[in-house]
Amino acid sequence: MKYEVKNLKLSTKGKKKIAWAAKQMDVLQEIKKDFQKKKPLKNLRIAACLHVTSETANLVDTLKAGGAKVTLCASNPLSTQDDVAASIVKDLKIAVFAIYNENRQVYYKHINQTLDFKPHITMDDGADLVSTIHAQRKNLAKNIWGGSEETTTGVIRLKSLAQQKKLLYPIIAVNDAQTKHFFDNRYGTGQSTLDGIIRATNVLLAGKTVVVAGYGWCGRGFAQKARGMGAKIIVTEVDPVKALEALMDGFEVKTMSEAAPLGDIFCTLTGNIHILRKEHFNKMKDGAMVCNSGHFDVEIDIKTLKKISNKVIQVRPLVEEFTLKNNKRIILLAQGRLINLVAAEGHPATVMDMSFANQSLACVFIAKNHKKLEKKVYDVSEQTDIKIALLKLKSLGIKIDKLTTEQKKYLSSWEIGT
Ligand code: ADE
Repeated sequence: MKYEVKNLKLSTKGKKKIAWAAKQMDVLQEIKKDFQKKKPLKNLRIAACLHVTSETANLVDTLKAGGAKVTLCASNPLSTQDDVAASIVKDLKIAVFAIYNENRQVYYKHINQTLDFKPHITMDDGADLVSTIHAQRKNLAKNIWGGSEETTTGVIRLKSLAQQKKLLYPIIAVNDAQTKHFFDNRYGTGQSTLDGIIRATNVLLAGKTVVVAGYGWCGRGFAQKARGMGAKIIVTEVDPVKALEALMDGFEVKTMSEAAPLGDIFCTLTGNIHILRKEHFNKMKDGAMVCNSGHFDVEIDIKTLKKISNKVIQVRPLVEEFTLKNNKRIILLAQGRLINLVAAEGHPATVMDMSFANQSLACVFIAKNHKKLEKKVYDVSEQTDIKIALLKLKSLGIKIDKLTTEQKKYLSSWEIGT
């Protein structure tokens, strides 16, 4: 088996981390048991490009239990946990091509090695596998039955490919499942972003002004958690409905130019480019911290930040201090990459449980339906969402009510009014 990881000797620690995560991933464990019996992915080759974490290890283990042959590469050069990568290779016998802090060239080499496996199914977090196939390895597409996409940014990229009629095979938008984005994006990003900022800096949130750029599910979650820690929140948005929602959720809403001189900590969660740029850096307070929790490292204009700085020093791991020409200092965290995965461990396993249950069932859906699927982006079915939510509730020991016959009838009638 070909693979490329930092050091197989790290696997002992990685194995313990994987087992720890497994204890909080009951839905995935249920699916794994079912997969072991039914082998719904028998002999399918799955190429996955995901953050290489202990939660992902449990996902690839589940896919293998379903009969699939899996290879894994990283979806971000700084999120790979080398000990986990080693254990996936050594203990789970699954090929991994990922090394923490790999450069851009190695990152794409690993994506290509994963694709050399000639997958039937691709599984992406950010669409780097699909975009590499579409840009450089189109010949692989004819044998691909379908793919799945984990994150908002990836779904946006893939919908744009589909709209231009260039998408070469069907994709399941796992991100858009309710049991994914309501929980993973909101509670997962919310907590892990805060975790990343705290682990990197050890700052006290209470009394700080935190500027949250973007009020999608990730921004909503982070704003809520930061408020819980006693921070004062300012939200910036371009969508009027979301801006209004933020206001009515009790947050201040301002433009970034207005917020720039007020913020102590800025976090971008928009999925768009150059949210923090020169005009904002120049207005910021001395010592303002900037970080990003959106998928790509494009949200903070780091190139310009470097250009307008006289000096850059590393003050702690993952913390760089830029001294601007106006003598004020701006602190950049985690090189502007996903703060929650780079400075912390990503979303907790409890929430990845539902996201990866969706990923596993998306593969089964592709395996069963690939002959009838068109080259477009599909949503996860409502039945899948319901199944995953019920399994999660069951694992938490929570029962819910059922509609009575009378209630069902009432909901399906139009005659009964006042
Ligand atoms: N995305 C966000 N958090 C993650 C985690 N813990 N594992 C894999 N992918 C993630």
